Amino acid sequence: MSTQPHHEAPAPSGGERDRVIKGHTYDGIREYDNPMPGWWLWLFWITVVFAPIYLIGINTGFIDTYEEDLAEGLAELETMRATYAAANPTFEADAATLAGYAGDPAMVEAGAGHYATVCAACHGDQGQGLIGPNLTDEYWLHGGTLTDIYTVIAEGVPAKGMPAWSVQFSPQEIAQLTAYVASLKGTNPPNPKEPQGERVVDAES
Ligand code: HEC
Repeated sequence: MSTQPHHEAPAPSGGERDRVIKGHTYDGIREYDNPMPGWWLWLFWITVVFAPIYLIGINTGFIDTYEEDLAEGLAELETMRATYAAANPTFEADAATLAGYAGDPAMVEAGAGHYATVCAACHGDQGQGLIGPNLTDEYWLHGGTLTDIYTVIAEGVPAKGMPAWSVQFSPQEIAQLTAYVASLKGTNPPNPKEPQGERVVDAES
């Protein structure tokens, strides 16, 4: 027999907490018959109702499986990509496209606009050359085909002071600039800068 005084936690008084389950005493710990909180019971019954619905749904195809959801999402993405690609045809700065731009007065005009804002400072307002080479003569440092001109405008010659314009202009705008530069050939503006580079005759593409 224990000589220790028997300590018992004082039972909470009032209401439901007074309902002690008889027989449930372990080392003096007693259990109270408190009901589960309402929200817990609701969750429980919802899962009980949901489980068979889900089980039947997933096996009969009434509820989509993960793979079906994924395939559906991918198909939707593919449709979006196709729509986007159709609305935004990719631009290829190939020789034929550049020749098309060079032959289109609207594109030459657009290129002239870009040229006046950023290129004239170094190449002269009429392409006669200043810090940068004369763009109206038949002499080219980097080749005189449309593709050469496009490439040098896009990539620049950083070591020689010609910036790379692909940072600031879209490929379409660089093609417009190319068209404008090509249109300057033989315009003989006043005060031309002396020729630099190789003479290129009849370079078109
Ligand atoms: C900061 C001055 C500067 C600006 C601005 C500039 N360029 Fe140049 N550009 C140069 C220099 C310098 C060269 C010569 C590079 C070399 O010596 O290799 C050059 C070369 C070129 C060439 C090659 C010429 C050749 O003989 O092969 C083209 C074409 C050209 N620039 C077009 C443009 C266009 C178009 C713009 C505007 C979008 C532009 N440049 C803006 C300085 C400039």
